[in-house]
Amino acid sequence: MSSKILSSAIVGLNGDFVEVEVDVLASGLHNFTLVGLPDTSVKESRDRVSSALKNNGFKPPHQCGRITVNLAPADLQKSSPIYDVPIAIGFLVSTGQLTFDTKDKLFVGELALDGVVRGINGVLPITLFAKESGIKEIYVPEENVAEASIVDGIDIIGVKDLRVLALHLSGQEVLTPIINQKLSESDGVYKGSLDMKYIKGHEHAKRALEIAAAGGHNVIFHGPPGSGKTLLAKTFVSILPPLSKNEILDITKIYSVAGQLPHDEQMIKSRQFRAPHHSASAVSLIGGGSNPRPGEITLAHRGVLFLDEFAEFPRAVLENLRQPLEDGTVTIARANASAEFPANFTLVAAMNPCPCGYATDANKECTCTPAQIVRYSQKISGPILDRIDMHIDVPRIHINKLDNDELAEESNLVRNRVMIARNAQEKRFQNSGKINAEMNQIDIKKHCPLDKESKALLKSAAEKLDLSARAYYRMIKLARTIADLDGNEKITKNHIAESLQYRPKV
Ligand SMILES: Nc1ncnc2c1ncn2[C@@H]1O[C@H](COP(=O)(O)OP(=O)(O)OP(=O)(O)O)[C@@H](O)[C@H]1O
Ligand SMILES: [Mg+2]
Repeated sequence: MSSKILSSAIVGLNGDFVEVEVDVLASGLHNFTLVGLPDTSVKESRDRVSSALKNNGFKPPHQCGRITVNLAPADLQKSSPIYDVPIAIGFLVSTGQLTFDTKDKLFVGELALDGVVRGINGVLPITLFAKESGIKEIYVPEENVAEASIVDGIDIIGVKDLRVLALHLSGQEVLTPIINQKLSESDGVYKGSLDMKYIKGHEHAKRALEIAAAGGHNVIFHGPPGSGKTLLAKTFVSILPPLSKNEILDITKIYSVAGQLPHDEQMIKSRQFRAPHHSASAVSLIGGGSNPRPGEITLAHRGVLFLDEFAEFPRAVLENLRQPLEDGTVTIARANASAEFPANFTLVAAMNPCPCGYATDANKECTCTPAQIVRYSQKISGPILDRIDMHIDVPRIHINKLDNDELAEESNLVRNRVMIARNAQEKRFQNSGKINAEMNQIDIKKHCPLDKESKALLKSAAEKLDLSARAYYRMIKLARTIADLDGNEKITKNHIAESLQYRPKV
């Protein structure tokens, strides 16, 4: 007898149908074959399924003759052990040990040898996919129900173990679907303890971060050791606007596939700050693997990618950022799979001006040779620097300022201004989620008309600073954000002048 049970694969960040076909031939020697492009973890499911069935009181495969399991479509790579539960259920149906209507039901889950259903990665995208495909009931590991419960319009049933599942499907002990989790207005708001009020001085850098937060512009900090570059970058998330419900869903999907959702909440409710160490590999930064997985730039989607000690990253690793910084997505192509991941992050980089760190310091003498300084600055390529809109000097803070007990402006006040500027952008881009830094040529033409004076100023500066075409348009986008913070529909000469301050002078 044979059976067909629906399950799902994850392709990139989305689900896709996998049909688990189980055929049992009662006569002949025992044989358990699994086909349909399974990777090692899927092949091993034969042993897990066999033990789980035996330990839950079912007739196990080795007493049932020849068993063939096919995971269709055969040309789609199957990875991760999510097919254990559908294979076990399909086997029970094929051997007549379980009878139920398999229509419109989808199963995922890994089995422990004692039949307990273990949590898996990617439950949220699978549940979303199941709902969109018209599936009525999805069976997920109990461990993953909180994550799945964000999706409404589909019955989600959390499964503890194989025995309980079989009792439910045969109608003996019915499990009730879980209740959906509704996101509240306060979800998405930053709840950490970092606050700009504790940073003394650095008004110029704080203003730059406010602009970066308002329009999503990339920033690099230069300065001597201990001047506060890392501190400034870390507090950046505290002034970013709250996440919208759609953004929460998008980011939670990414973390679900990457297997990085927090155990308690199983949801990502605030903007993420990713700070990979400079020893990070290109794959961990960009994403990859034979079955492509999201990397740090995707985990920083709609949040911050902080690259501290920027010049210490291998140049070849940094060059990988060129395409994502331009497009906001990354496409990873492998021999048998390809995936596109979102990567709309704000880059914040920090570095010293030279190996000893004091080339720009007014008090301490730099001990580097000119050649060393040049070599150090050349570690970052021109194309990468060209994609960074704001180059900020973070000088050493005078001891008198550090001694002062007065607190600076609180992050939530800065965030309020940022949110006003973001509201203007929401109106401009008709709630599409787009922000100023993501404007294309057509948007710039439509939303950033310049008056005569502004044009003249930008032109002369572009000539003096030798701006590339990219940098020229990036300046206009930056000026658009400065005007938004100013509450001004029109970009004026002052806005252009301020945006030019943030370009490197050489
Ligand atoms: N402006 C400031 N206000 C308050 N504390 C500061 C300030 N600048 C630096 N500090 C203190 O100094 C510590 C070191 O600063 P930080 O790590 O940001 O330096 P850095 O510029 O990143 O140095 P490096 O180039 O060595 O990485 C901070 O953790 C903080 O305690
Ligand atoms: Mg630092």
